[in-house]
Amino acid sequence: MIYVTRREVFSAAHRLYNPSLSEEENEKLFGKCGSPNWHGHNYTLDVIVKGDIDPLTGYVIDLKELKNILNENVIKKLDHKNLNVDVDFLKGKIPSGENLVVAIWNELVNKISKGKLYSVKLFETENNYFEYRGEEN
Ligand code: NI
Repeated sequence: MIYVTRREVFSAAHRLYNPSLSEEENEKLFGKCGSPNWHGHNYTLDVIVKGDIDPLTGYVIDLKELKNILNENVIKKLDHKNLNVDVDFLKGKIPSGENLVVAIWNELVNKISKGKLYSVKLFETENNYFEYRGEEN
C-alpha cells in the first residue's frame, strides 16, 4: 500500500466560543482564543490518500487531480474566510482544530477519485496539529 500526500495552505479567522454557555464560562474556557473580534491562523493541511499503484500511470492518484479536489471542496471555502460565519460545513460547530479536521475529512471522503482517503492533518500553529483518520482507523 502506498501513501500519497498533498499539502495545501490557507488562512482563516475564527473565535472559539460556545453560544450555549455564558460569557463568563466562555472566557474561562477559551481565554484569548475566544477574543470577540476574532484572530487568525495560517493553516497547513496535509491530505493523505492510500492505494495501489496504477500500472498504466505509475500513480496512486494524479496529484494534480488531488490538488483540484482539495481546492474545489475545501480550500476555496476556507481561505480568507471567517470559520465561525462563512463556511457552510462548519455551521453550528465550534471552529476548533478538532472540529475543523473532522469536517474537512467529511467533505473529502467521498470525493477522492482514486485510492482511499487515509488521513487528514491540520496544522494550526508550529506546535499544534490535529489528525483524523475516520471512524475505522
Ligand atoms: Ni485560534
